[in-house]
Amino acid sequence: MHRPPHSRLALRWLFTSALCIAAHVSASDAVQHIKSGPSIDSVAQLVKTCTGCHGPEGRATPYGYFPRIAGKPENYLYNQLLNFQEGRRVYPQMSNLLENLDPSYLKLLAHYFATQELPYPAPAQIISTDMQLELGRRIVREGVAARDVPACTACHGDALTGVAPSIPGILGLPRDYIISQLGAWRNHQRHAQSPDCMAQISTNLSVSEISAVTAWLSNAPWPKGGRPLQTLPKPLPISCGTVQKSQSQTVPRPSAIKPTLTAMEQKGEYLIRIGNCQACHTRPGADLMSGNRPIETPFGVVYSSNLTPDADTGMGKWTADDFWGALHTGRSKDGHLLTPAFPYPELTQVTRMDADSMFAYLRTLPPKHLPQTPNTLAWPYNTQFGLVIWRSLYFKVGEYTEDPQQSKLWNRGSYLVNGLSHCGSCHTPRNFIGGSQSQLAFKGAYLPPSHSGNWFAPSLMDPIDGGVQNWSDEDVQTFLLNGITPKGYVNGPMAEVVFKGTQYFSAQDAQSVAVYLKSFKSKGDLITGPISPVHAVVSEPLKSGERLYDKHCESCHGKQGEGIRGKYPALANNRNVVATHINNAVQSVLLGGIPPTTMGHPMPFGMPPYRAVLSDTEVADVLSYIRNSWGNQASAVSTFEVMQATGKSK
Ligand code: HEC
Ligand code: HEC
Ligand code: HEC
Ligand code: HEC
Ligand code: HEC
Repeated sequence: MHRPPHSRLALRWLFTSALCIAAHVSASDAVQHIKSGPSIDSVAQLVKTCTGCHGPEGRATPYGYFPRIAGKPENYLYNQLLNFQEGRRVYPQMSNLLENLDPSYLKLLAHYFATQELPYPAPAQIISTDMQLELGRRIVREGVAARDVPACTACHGDALTGVAPSIPGILGLPRDYIISQLGAWRNHQRHAQSPDCMAQISTNLSVSEISAVTAWLSNAPWPKGGRPLQTLPKPLPISCGTVQKSQSQTVPRPSAIKPTLTAMEQKGEYLIRIGNCQACHTRPGADLMSGNRPIETPFGVVYSSNLTPDADTGMGKWTADDFWGALHTGRSKDGHLLTPAFPYPELTQVTRMDADSMFAYLRTLPPKHLPQTPNTLAWPYNTQFGLVIWRSLYFKVGEYTEDPQQSKLWNRGSYLVNGLSHCGSCHTPRNFIGGSQSQLAFKGAYLPPSHSGNWFAPSLMDPIDGGVQNWSDEDVQTFLLNGITPKGYVNGPMAEVVFKGTQYFSAQDAQSVAVYLKSFKSKGDLITGPISPVHAVVSEPLKSGERLYDKHCESCHGKQGEGIRGKYPALANNRNVVATHINNAVQSVLLGGIPPTTMGHPMPFGMPPYRAVLSDTEVADVLSYIRNSWGNQASAVSTFEVMQATGKSK
């Protein structure tokens, strides 16, 4: 598989860290090897994001479903993290955290949990009949020959403690969890590398056999001192892609990933990156630029196009003119109008020379045959007629022209922000049919609700909201390149923009964006959320909020909301906490988050999600508290507003 080019940089790090790990250096030492500043002192602290659900050291908690991950084979854990990240396994509360992390971070997590050697608790006593247990035991030891189900022990090891590096032990797991995993394989909700042997096995077992096997497995104790075997004594009875893949896994050399490119193609690669084309045109885990990524809009789902040079399903038959035409006029090669989910209202400003470079680079990618998934837009947005109207109102073909009154840097910044990097596609409000209102350029906008929540892109015009007028040039560069702001970290959709796009800005381009953004002068009204009355400072919600803060938040954000520099954001004097629009603060608490890994900040600390921990009222209380403590002063937040911000209530 062709990995996205950005992972090359990650691979370089991975290569060094893999050596550390191979040399049995502890995980925290491995972290020390990364030049990520003095802030990171232990992985044990970094994994706090995970241990709220998975238990201390990943040993699982007595309450129910969360699986134990301590001591499972390292490559198995790593594969699962990739599976969640790339959609082969689904658990939004967790995959959301993994979204903007590169492979080296996932490796570190896997390494940490794989090396936790902890005793297993006594198994839960599942009520079942002797007959059922005997059936379960027989399937585990002998399989079901009639239906091509091999013995579980043939792959999971005689003692069922797993086999390094990729097959997990299957004892010590809650029965609910095992049932749901086998069910997920049957229902195509869980996938492993193909051929997916567990999908085959789960489908071939009958429901009563699954019931018997899981009863037996969850009743059996983990053998004393049991560990994953180093190798299987016999070859696998049926093939498992996961196992084969890990046997042939080597660290590819950068030259094998990218053949030599001409100067023009290299420039194109750079422009594609900072234009953040990947974010929409590469589905997680799929081939670079092969498209078909769903883009959620208020009018339905639009799927991005396959931009690889495949003749039938990609741009194999396109010319540089066709490509330029698509960016510049929003028309496809055959003349049909494209939906503005493709940000051509901004990309229309891209210069012909830049378009040609991007096209030249795209032609160097391996062609991928992947037909276009049909859009599911509602009428009239699914018609060409609807698009004609939309375009007559909101789209002007344009090309970037320099402002001679301004410096070269300013002009370059303006080209990037307005054109190629299309910052306005989120930061400028779109009206009810999706057009952007130029008089409101960069004044902040609610983004369409998506799998990653309901976010607000703040106004870049207003220094109290999202503007950077009061930041130094270096602050803006650190923000674009590393995802770090003076008070904390980028979040939600902005985290993806940094992870996939802005971290690749050259120092000079980052500086030009800084010069341009800092020149913004606020004009007119801002887009803001509903304002609720400021509560009296000592009221019941605030007291309850304080108790919740002390219990759940203080350990990271500090007694005085001061945070810990380099690890946890300060909440005191933080404009994102006191913002009039409360959406982002609500999303932060409900969804948690790990800031994006970047070359300059490869090992960020994270925050666990509180969706399953706090009620809407408790979220409102704790937000009211942090908005009115340590010098912060802002309106209190009501339960209703929290429900509004999560889309539960209009
Ligand atoms: C909100 C609770 C929650 C958080 C936080 C969470 N997980 Fe999970 N995790 C789960 C659940 C639930 C599953 C099982 C999902 C399923 O049904 O497949 C899971 C599954 C896993 C698995 C697969 C286990 C297996 O045996 O196949 C791994 C590995 C894992 N999590 C690692 C992590 C790591 C690392 C983090 C921190 C970055 C983390 N999780 C954070 C709830 C959580
Ligand atoms: C042909 C080899 C093979 C056989 C036979 C096999 N397994 Fe598996 N099993 C695997 C592999 C490989 C994985 C890891 C899949 C992945 O990477 O997601 C796995 C994973 C699992 C998991 C997921 C564990 C977790 O922590 O999420 C369960 C549960 C499981 N197997 C149960 C069984 C049962 C029950 C049987 C017998 C009926 C069985 N397996 C037979 C190869 C096998
Ligand atoms: C916000 C998501 C998004 C971003 C960012 C994005 N695109 Fe697209 N792009 C789309 C969607 C969606 C379509 C398909 C529109 C349709 O089918 O009407 C598309 C279509 C296209 C097409 C037309 C293909 C065809 O078959 O007609 C080209 C060319 C293109 N994009 C190039 C780019 C380039 C180059 C970049 C980066 C500078 C980029 N896109 C950034 C979402 C995006
Ligand atoms: C996909 C939508 C999207 C795009 C594209 C986007 N942003 Fe953002 N931006 C957001 C959201 C949502 C936030 C609020 C979350 C946060 O503060 O990190 C934000 C926050 C910001 C902030 C305030 C950060 C803070 O914490 O104070 C700045 C500055 C910013 N964006 C600049 C940019 C620039 C420059 C670009 C273009 C290179 C851009 N954004 C492109 C969605 C977007
Ligand atoms: C394990 C440490 C940890 C705990 C516990 C924790 N946080 Fe966080 N918090 C973080 C980190 C790290 C971030 C940055 C996350 C990101 O950018 O994705 C963050 C971000 C935030 C933000 C967004 C700040 C900004 O600048 O946008 C808010 C608000 C917040 N936390 C509130 C809380 C509240 C309220 C609690 C308790 C219910 C809490 N946190 C518990 C670590 C933690």
